[in-house]
Amino acid sequence: MPMFKDLQPAPPDSILGLTEAFLKDTRQEKINLSVGIYQDARGATPTLATVQEAERRLLEKAPSKSYLPISGLGEYAVGVQGLLFGDEHEIVLAGRASTAQTPGGTAALRAAADTINRLHPTTKVWISQPTWPNHPSIFTAAGLKVEIYPYFDADNNRLALEAMLNTLEKLPPGNVVLLHGGCHNPTGVDPTPEQWRQIADVIHARNLFPLVDFAYQGFGEGIREDTVGILTLCRLGQEAMICSSFSKNFGLYGERVGALTLVAADRPSAEAAMSHVKACIRANYSNPPAHGARIVSTILSDEALRRQWEQEVADMRDRINGMRRKFVETMAQVGSQRDWSFIERQRGMFSFSGLTPVDVDQLRSEHAIYIVGNGRINVAGMTEANLPTLCRAIASVTEK
Ligand SMILES: Cc1ncc(COP(=O)(O)O)c(C=O)c1O
Repeated sequence: MPMFKDLQPAPPDSILGLTEAFLKDTRQEKINLSVGIYQDARGATPTLATVQEAERRLLEKAPSKSYLPISGLGEYAVGVQGLLFGDEHEIVLAGRASTAQTPGGTAALRAAADTINRLHPTTKVWISQPTWPNHPSIFTAAGLKVEIYPYFDADNNRLALEAMLNTLEKLPPGNVVLLHGGCHNPTGVDPTPEQWRQIADVIHARNLFPLVDFAYQGFGEGIREDTVGILTLCRLGQEAMICSSFSKNFGLYGERVGALTLVAADRPSAEAAMSHVKACIRANYSNPPAHGARIVSTILSDEALRRQWEQEVADMRDRINGMRRKFVETMAQVGSQRDWSFIERQRGMFSFSGLTPVDVDQLRSEHAIYIVGNGRINVAGMTEANLPTLCRAIASVTEK
């Protein structure tokens, strides 16, 4: 029986497919607010100065290109745990955390999914409604059953906390709850510290397992401030897994730099759990790529470079929040009657704009503006230059 003959093509990726269409579009004033990459005030995605400096140092050192261990570089793991918990946190000092370097946040999620499937194959994974479209794909591909919990109150553009907690309160013990550590993709709506406490209370009381996707550390309120969710969840005795991505906050998209950190009740449990993570990784990509992790380690372990990097992250965050403010102002200036102020309250690279699939189609066909069908916009794709065109177009399709 042939493998490929007469096959129908798989549907294109909902987000990356849009960028392909954008690149083919020949209209001059086209705007791409679909794909999740940071862009500066000129619409470029430059390499951070700290990354360039780290690369210069690495070139001089010319480290060996031999394989890394399955779980990656040891000094990288130390840096990741410092970013997540702080160097002196009890979790770190007690050895309750163990970190594997992974090719991006996606591979961290897949390694987490494979490990859950290996240890508890009948466990369900609960994901927020809505969420990053790759979440259900990753967990389903790993053989796990995926269910959804309510997250977004679309009428009021805020967290649907009560509905979320009501669902979590009914879950059987051991079920996995996937949470966005901050800068929720696609909504831009995060729990407040008090809401995190309520979520953590239910997770703890119901013996649920929190799995945190942390792809935007530093893009919300600050590098340290953005750990409030993780630190609230990882209270004494609570097990967890955290999937870090350094694609956005180090601008290392194509280098594939991420990490899976597990938190266990004690050091022996953490070590045993990591041995299972490593078995999953070995059967998947064997061991992670070295270059990006060496860049991150170089920056995190040098005090001056680290300070400079923190400033670079702050600059990206401030630009995005500045564009949020200007978007709301410009929508009012072009005469929109809608209240767009929620855009300013949302955090991270994305906002759920409230644009309907019909609005999105019209923006693309009539104005060469590319937005994901669910109305998610990449705020980092906005610039001073494209904002007037963008806002006039959005007003024209929404004020019909
Ligand atoms: C919520 C979320 N998780 C994970 C990822 C994956 O990041 P990476 O490119 O590092 O695999 C992304 C990237 O867009 C994301 O938005």
